[in-house]
Amino acid sequence: MKEPTPKLVFPKKFFWGASTSAHQVEGNNHNQWSIWELENAVTRAQQARYELKYLPAWEDIKEQATKPDNYISGKATDHYNRYEEDFDTLEQLHMNAFRFSIEWSRIEPEEGSWDPLALEHYRLYLHSLQRRHIEPFVTLWHWTLPEWFVAKGGFEKRSNVKYFVRFVEKVLSELGAYFRYVIPLNEPAIYTSKSYLEHDWPPALENKPKALKVYLNLLHAHKKVYKASTKVNRKFKIGIAENFAHIYAGDNAQLSKVSASLMARGNDFFVARIKRQLDFIGVNYYFSNRFYGNRIHNEDQRLSDLGWDMQPRDIEHALRRVHKKFHLPIIITENGLADHADEWRRWWLMETILAMQKAMDKGVKLEGYLHWSLLDNFEWAYGRWPRFGLVEVNFKTGERTIRDSALWFGKIIKKLQQS
Ligand code: BGC
Repeated sequence: MKEPTPKLVFPKKFFWGASTSAHQVEGNNHNQWSIWELENAVTRAQQARYELKYLPAWEDIKEQATKPDNYISGKATDHYNRYEEDFDTLEQLHMNAFRFSIEWSRIEPEEGSWDPLALEHYRLYLHSLQRRHIEPFVTLWHWTLPEWFVAKGGFEKRSNVKYFVRFVEKVLSELGAYFRYVIPLNEPAIYTSKSYLEHDWPPALENKPKALKVYLNLLHAHKKVYKASTKVNRKFKIGIAENFAHIYAGDNAQLSKVSASLMARGNDFFVARIKRQLDFIGVNYYFSNRFYGNRIHNEDQRLSDLGWDMQPRDIEHALRRVHKKFHLPIIITENGLADHADEWRRWWLMETILAMQKAMDKGVKLEGYLHWSLLDNFEWAYGRWPRFGLVEVNFKTGERTIRDSALWFGKIIKKLQQS
């Protein structure tokens, strides 16, 4: 039987907003990613013909995807200089929250030396959000690293964690007056596997022992940062942004059930290990994984431009699992789709709003929704062609155009704020 559509009643203080990360939007960053991009752009452009041609959007994206330039973040969306304009958009869409990251390689370009101009930039940035009554959700590591830190072995070495902690202390003491919500790490497991197991991202290795070390060192880093933050000020609310899929058995076979439950346990492992050092959990939700036996086979009825199976409603199940396991307040810190034609985004948002309502009706302590992303941006190894933005960006001119789905979403937010 079909479940009835729930009545939409969101809490007055619910956070409605959007998410970004520094390297993907700011432009002109210098870190391990920007170096890797320059070294790999030509190869990636050549590989696109073989690797991406199965994508539903291939005909529309092939021109961009086969050019090396696509794989270089360069000036990205120039958000570093155009943030006021982007914050105007947040206001226009009635948003009261915004997630972004502070770029370590800007704040500490050389070991132990802090760049006063970069600190001042983020001070002005945060001040602008404050003036607009927009709550900042501050990520401190969204996968990019300063070159000097990489040269020391990066997160592969336990003894290097102290450098990250020192950076965090600096940011919290210099800029902490402007925010409460802190996300030290974004998706540590995704980083570990893409960078150390699947050789997709820098340093592009396939090395299990190193992957394990990095993963455990990131766990350690989160714990250290938590402790350090309480020393700077007890007001900070510390979270994590973790990629949570809905993982389920597609049939009644024992193997399907066991496979799904093992994968879910793996998915929850990092958070389970730091749950005492968390004030909230950031859920990044993009897709589901359905098991038949020990293989994942999704419905694939609707695919995003990246070929991901679109099941926005399943976020309800992912939220309920995280709630049941951890009983902590939840913020959806990322959720969205690559949709260059803006064909599915409105549908996706509506389905997600209904799913969030159902989850809350069933007891989930959901406190906010931050869409990925505010802007079209640099989608890591895929480069610029995947369009995740509520706002379309012309990468040549920097010009922004708010997509129709976003204008619609803005109106819905306003309504829900008044309900
Ligand atoms: C990451 C983002 C990324 C998004 C879409 C998330 O896992 O945190 O940086 O752009 O997924 O792939």
